[in-house]
Amino acid sequence: MCGIFAYLNYLTPKKRKEILELLVKGLKRLEYRGYDSAGVAIDSFDSKDMSLIKRSGKVKLLEEEIKNRSSELHVENENDNHCGIAHTRWATHGIPNEVNSHPQRSDVHHSFVVVHNGIITNYKEVKTFLEKKGYRFESETDTEVIAKLIHHLYNLHPNYSFRELVEHVVQQLEGAFALCFKSKHFPGECVATRRGSPLLIGIKTKSHLATDHIPILYGKAETDNNHKEHRPHGRPEFPVIPRNDSTSEFQPLEEKSVEYFFASDASAIIEHTNRVIYFEDDDVAAVKNGVLSIHRLRRNMDDPHAREITTLKMELEEIMKGNYDYYMQKEIFEQPESVVNTMRGRVYFDTRNVILGGIKDYIPEIKRCRRLMLIGCGTSYHSAIATRQLLEELTELPVMVELASDFLDRTTPVFRDDVCFFISQSGETADTLMALRYCKQRGALIVGITNTVGSSICRESHCGVHINAGPEIGVASTKAYTSQFISLVMFALVMSEDRISLKTRRMEIIEGLKNLAEQIKEVLKLDSQVRALAEDLYQQKSLLIMGRGFNFATCLEGALKVKELTYMHSEGIMAGELKHGPLALVDDTMPVIMIVMRDGVYKKCMNALQQVTAREGRPIIVCEKGDNETKNFAYKCLEVPKTVDCLQGILTVIPMQLLSFHIAVLRKCNVDCPRNLAKSVTVE
Ligand code: F6R
Repeated sequence: MCGIFAYLNYLTPKKRKEILELLVKGLKRLEYRGYDSAGVAIDSFDSKDMSLIKRSGKVKLLEEEIKNRSSELHVENENDNHCGIAHTRWATHGIPNEVNSHPQRSDVHHSFVVVHNGIITNYKEVKTFLEKKGYRFESETDTEVIAKLIHHLYNLHPNYSFRELVEHVVQQLEGAFALCFKSKHFPGECVATRRGSPLLIGIKTKSHLATDHIPILYGKAETDNNHKEHRPHGRPEFPVIPRNDSTSEFQPLEEKSVEYFFASDASAIIEHTNRVIYFEDDDVAAVKNGVLSIHRLRRNMDDPHAREITTLKMELEEIMKGNYDYYMQKEIFEQPESVVNTMRGRVYFDTRNVILGGIKDYIPEIKRCRRLMLIGCGTSYHSAIATRQLLEELTELPVMVELASDFLDRTTPVFRDDVCFFISQSGETADTLMALRYCKQRGALIVGITNTVGSSICRESHCGVHINAGPEIGVASTKAYTSQFISLVMFALVMSEDRISLKTRRMEIIEGLKNLAEQIKEVLKLDSQVRALAEDLYQQKSLLIMGRGFNFATCLEGALKVKELTYMHSEGIMAGELKHGPLALVDDTMPVIMIVMRDGVYKKCMNALQQVTAREGRPIIVCEKGDNETKNFAYKCLEVPKTVDCLQGILTVIPMQLLSFHIAVLRKCNVDCPRNLAKSVTVE
């Protein structure tokens, strides 16, 4: 949650007006990460001061404020090189208002300003320490301590470089953060760092870059004990970290004129450049006079010498709405392609072979494991529920499915011979990442299933599968779910490739995967029918979604979509549990959707259906195309094509995605940014 965007130009003249427009545009791309408030800081015309502009609400309001203040901000005859930092916020500490917006500042003169994504867990101790030093706080944020702490350290060490000051600051911080700093004392410079929250830098030069890596500068080795002692908790004064390099060690890119973009993710910079560096935890990156340097305080045995400049494959169109009114709508309709992208280069339909390059070397080890654990949150968790039965069937291993937060609350026993899957669209969800670290510490093999290359979960896993669904901008997850689903199915197929007894089953699943894209297209044709259904339902208070077996996950996922998008109450109910309580909810007014497929639990589903109709319930049935017998029981019906039982959930979830979307539109809810939610939940 929260999006960071920063820009610096060097020998590529740009007026502040252009830079402010560029910063606002970057924030708009990151708005899905949080939209409570937004702000920018940019140097004054002579770079000796800076302007700080903040507005609560969406980036659009910040844009208006900038326009209103254009006479003050857009000055002629100004310096051509500028540095601006920007932020879009999802509130964690302090209500969404202007004072709590970022950039946070050290003092009224804006000596230091900072934008932050994450959460500082020891901010109270740091705040108490600074209050004793005479600092007065204006916001309720954890971030303000960072701005004031760097100011305090600057007063103590006025001869330190900007980067050294930032290094001192982060030594005192606990929690998760990506930070971008700017200072009046270091005009035209920007320093950024991360620990646990995502951050990357984009590099744009006129000609081809002469290098594909940036050397890392390491400081003097310090022991971990020293590191711990540097915490302010209970200590009267901060220790001085030895200064450990000089500016002459900076490794310049050969190119002289250059533009740099710091961003929480690539969608904000892809329209400017496709050359990026993903930062690792505790990297401190500084840009001064057009030169980028990356520094780390201490070096461990296996640490690399350089950070690679990678080329992004993402296209701008992939992150634009195209002909659709909403990102979510676009993403639902992209599923015929996104599922194919997930399988591309992995499922060979001619030879009936499945290869997952990212985990193939680990398959023998996985086959020897004690159990598989699938861990995630929200929709990602549902993809684990959707595929558990197939994984149990094809691997014959015990499969545990866990919500990451609950898994940690229970301090679940984990062993060296466990294989733990971490499923996450963003690859940055804090609960999932914490659970990953917990399992890794206990020696389990870590498999990441993510949609975000270079994300924390991606990098901290031993191996994994990138689901290749493409950027998902709508806060409600749709195409990532179906791609996670397919990724786990492919894994089950890989695990069973040498099992003769499962040959027929494997073949029917591979055949099912082959036809999936066409069948999804067919399901999407139900759109107008689903819209009509939404018109019937949108004024209701509640909606129950019932099913069992391979389609139970569709009920949970459908209900989550309805809740988060429409703010209606909705519940996904395991049909077998109906008689144990939920049946009491059923009467002739309660809308009930029932998923009834001709699979192994058909008869049991029909029993539940009878129970509903006996209570005068009027079931809306999602059934197989042409199943007239089941249709007879329906008050309304949606028919989806039949596929193999274990893949049916992909086809039954799409009408639920469409239904929640249409109800949200009819209820005039914000489809792409539901209230109180953020796309990437990087706090526990
Ligand atoms: C619901 C939704 C969330 C996410 C959850 C995990 O539509 O998007 O429930 O699935 O916050 O996020 P990731 O998959 O990024 O770890």
